[in-house]
Amino acid sequence: MEVVVLPTPEDCGHVVADVVTAAVEAAPGGVTIGLATGSSPLLAYRTLIARHEAGLRFDHVTAVLLDEYVGLPAGHPESYREVIRRELTDAVGIDPARVHGPDGSAPDPLQAARDYEALVTSVRPVAVQVLGIGANGHVGFNEPGSSLASRTRVKTLTEQTRADNARFFDGDVAAVPRHVLTQGLGTISEAEHLVLVATGAAKAAAVAGAAEGPVTTSCPGSVLQLHPHVTLVVDEAAASGLQ
Ligand code: F6R
Repeated sequence: MEVVVLPTPEDCGHVVADVVTAAVEAAPGGVTIGLATGSSPLLAYRTLIARHEAGLRFDHVTAVLLDEYVGLPAGHPESYREVIRRELTDAVGIDPARVHGPDGSAPDPLQAARDYEALVTSVRPVAVQVLGIGANGHVGFNEPGSSLASRTRVKTLTEQTRADNARFFDGDVAAVPRHVLTQGLGTISEAEHLVLVATGAAKAAAVAGAAEGPVTTSCPGSVLQLHPHVTLVVDEAAASGLQ
């Protein structure tokens, strides 16, 4: 695992954007990139938007999302499909038809999970998968206890994760869906290059567990230790628990 410790979240955003840019430029005939939502990648996405405005093209890019809330209607502003459209893909000109995520509004979420696993398989290889990490070590929405070999499926969010994400729902924990669809840890691990970005002291324990703790379902991020090509990009606060 390559561990990159940088002074500020802005520096982290630049490095993550560099990795994505290299993948986008290396495959002008078409490339699939995996995208995370949440706060952690936003500075990287802003850097990518600035680069697009300076000429970097994304019209050959297919994007796959990690996860989605179950039960939010299509078009809900906090559905991850909407979030990624707003935060990145519209601004860099990726055709919406090439932006894929689990269908959290499907009447049968179990079938939606199977369908999304098949979709991800069909657009492989995922050249780069951008990841964040939850304070409890979750990656995607694979909460503690998730099998390290898991595939796309329905999961129940922990109360900690719902509380953490209430900030996106006007602080109303009750508005945060209980269930999600998420790529499994096994699914995520099939990407060629995993780039996990974490900033701030609240992520220090999760980062230490993922990078240096035992490989255990209790810290889903520790699955990264089994992958041959991982770049962990952290600011000094998030790195403070590393040895
Ligand atoms: C989001 C996702 C989650 C987040 C994690 C950290 O698509 O998969 O694993 O990366 O919850 O969220 P932030 O970055 O908001 O702290």
